[in-house]
Amino acid sequence: MDATPIWIAGTPEHGTEPLTVTHPYDGSEAGATTHATEEQVERAVAAAAAVAREAASLPAHVRAAALDHVSRRLAERHEEVARLITAENGKPITWARVEVTRAIGTFRWAAEEARRFDAVTQDLSADPGMVGRLALTRRVPLGPVLGISPFNFPLNLVAHKIAPAIAVGAPIVVKPAPATPLSALLLGELLAETDLPAGMVSVIPVPNDRAPGLVADPRLPVVSFTGSVPVGWSIAESVPRKKTVLELGGNAAALVCPDWSSEEDLEWAATRIATFGNYQAGQSCIAVQRVFVAGELYDDLVARVVTKVGALKDGDPSEEDVVVGPLVDLAAAERVESWVGEAVAAGARVLVGGNRYGTAYEPTVLADVPPGAKVSAEEVFGPVLTVSPVSSVDEGFAAINDSRFGLQAGVFTHDVAVAFRAHRELAVGGVIVGDVPSFRADQMAYGGTKDSGAGREGLRAAMEDLTETRVLVLRTTS
Ligand code: SIN
Repeated sequence: MDATPIWIAGTPEHGTEPLTVTHPYDGSEAGATTHATEEQVERAVAAAAAVAREAASLPAHVRAAALDHVSRRLAERHEEVARLITAENGKPITWARVEVTRAIGTFRWAAEEARRFDAVTQDLSADPGMVGRLALTRRVPLGPVLGISPFNFPLNLVAHKIAPAIAVGAPIVVKPAPATPLSALLLGELLAETDLPAGMVSVIPVPNDRAPGLVADPRLPVVSFTGSVPVGWSIAESVPRKKTVLELGGNAAALVCPDWSSEEDLEWAATRIATFGNYQAGQSCIAVQRVFVAGELYDDLVARVVTKVGALKDGDPSEEDVVVGPLVDLAAAERVESWVGEAVAAGARVLVGGNRYGTAYEPTVLADVPPGAKVSAEEVFGPVLTVSPVSSVDEGFAAINDSRFGLQAGVFTHDVAVAFRAHRELAVGGVIVGDVPSFRADQMAYGGTKDSGAGREGLRAAMEDLTETRVLVLRTTS
């Protein structure tokens, strides 16, 4: 297989060390590329630093046109890109298509935000001593960004690094996940078709043990990382003077409140929980993991969830009707297997699933999970749901908050007062009412609190994280 080029300051190149990308489902070769050499990394970083001033003054129409171009080209190559995602990540083709559609939107939203990322003026004359003074506040890029992206959304979570950086006029060096570099490299190709200056974007596959050198490089003052909790926080601790944006893990919870009780309600909640506990084989930071159900609805709701989870078609992710594919690799599947085994040994009951087949783990529902078991206390990142009854909304909220994570929570209720209470009391970055915590619109602020991270994605929110304010004060009368 021809090696896919890596992108050094907008130019396609090859490194010297091959990187073979393996299809998680059958171990076949999904593609090949190369690791960037030290010299190529140096050129990528040096080019980003060299172009930073020019990038910061690029007109909004130039930044927006480049972002629109990538959006359009992804739309033109939609099916090809979806198949690439499935091949390198193992995500079912139906979900890979959703990811491409989302990435098209991510670039389009970034273009729109770039057009309206405007200065704010303040007439200071409300203060008698300040008559004749006007303040104009603009956000300016903090500088070149290091984007480190994960394997679970190999296209759209790379888009969430690159698109806001371009939108604000910040160069970016992207280190994609070693397991899934190909979609990121395709973005490098599409960006090279634009009028952005060379040096604005580099995509450099390097092994994880070379990341600390990049993180420490003073020419990259912003590090935007999506990935595991320990790695994220160790990055932040290693560079306390840098701006770090961390989008880390979670053990997302859904609460079904007592008022969510009609036939239609229960069917909706059960379908959404079954689907979004298992989409991408649970490998999403906001996949449903912990399900809390009002006691009077528990048996009915759980029976529905179990039936629906049991009916999810797993298998070859390239087949149209398969909705649950493999995990990213054997080690991931074995870890899920051992966590479920540990919970069962401590008293949990398997209601459905519970078996591993190579890199795949069956969609699984567990009840009676003892407190502290990893399947509920940690991020399982696999197709495993835990179900527990709660006696009240208060107890449900307390159960959701009883976690070191705080990314998103789903609250099934029709009661507006409960919705507002959830928004006030749940220690998470986002509360989703009437649906699962897995809901994400790419233009909306997205990120976590507690161990789940710091800073926000979502185009406008990310653009704020990548910039700082600079004030200009004018004397309007002489
Ligand atoms: C994540 O896994 O954090 C991203 C979820 C998403 O973009 O839907």
